[in-house]
Amino acid sequence: MSAPRIVTVDGPAGSGKSTLGRALAKDLGLPLIDTGLFYRAVTVAAVRAGLDGTDPSALGRLARSTSVTVATDPGSDDDTVLVDGIAAGSLLRDPSHAALLATIASEPEVRAAVLELQRAPAAHGAVAVGRDCGTVVFPSAAVKFYLDAPQPVREQRRLAQLRAEGANADEGTISAEVGGRDRTDRLRAASPLRRADDAHVIDTSAMGVDEMIDQAVAVCDRAGLRTAGAR
Ligand code: DC
Repeated sequence: MSAPRIVTVDGPAGSGKSTLGRALAKDLGLPLIDTGLFYRAVTVAAVRAGLDGTDPSALGRLARSTSVTVATDPGSDDDTVLVDGIAAGSLLRDPSHAALLATIASEPEVRAAVLELQRAPAAHGAVAVGRDCGTVVFPSAAVKFYLDAPQPVREQRRLAQLRAEGANADEGTISAEVGGRDRTDRLRAASPLRRADDAHVIDTSAMGVDEMIDQAVAVCDRAGLRTAGAR
């Protein structure tokens, strides 16, 4: 039996991971695994349970006992996430819980609890997007990408995205949010954001979306990952 076709896409906030992950999943006909959704789901459970993140073992217990169901459609931006059977709704991306989300994603017991949930959908291949997909979740993936762009570029993207969604976003808040997430993602002890040694690095500030996708598809092609007529 051949190894499952697994592609990983890691990088900091605003680097273009979700865009590339969705495009590759569609192109390769593989499920998309957005690994960050699992940390967001545990955060939703913590908010509902009234936990403030000060007790690490309570977070670990919560992550182990929470049921998370994720339905991701690579063709649309709509992810359905059920936390203990109840839709997460707007709580999933609520910026007012950003500090709790960072605490939860930094907790080794939480990370250990979600690992198997993140791996489960990939039995027959997947495109996995996150911070540690190429280093921890799928260290033997067939193809790994690491996307990056300078922080000001990523801030502008985030600002444009929020404004397009009709949110009232100001530059100072976004700059603090992106900078803060960079620091916590890179500096935490448990599975920090870092490039896998065998990852293909793409600087997404130097190109448009189509060029980024074409470059990544070409890499997957060379690795023999695309089935005939998939595109
Ligand atoms: O990609 P995102 O913004 O939805 O990620 C949500 C949080 O989870 C963010 O704080 C980074 C963290 N995360 C992580 O630690 N490891 C991953 N593989 C994916 C996300």
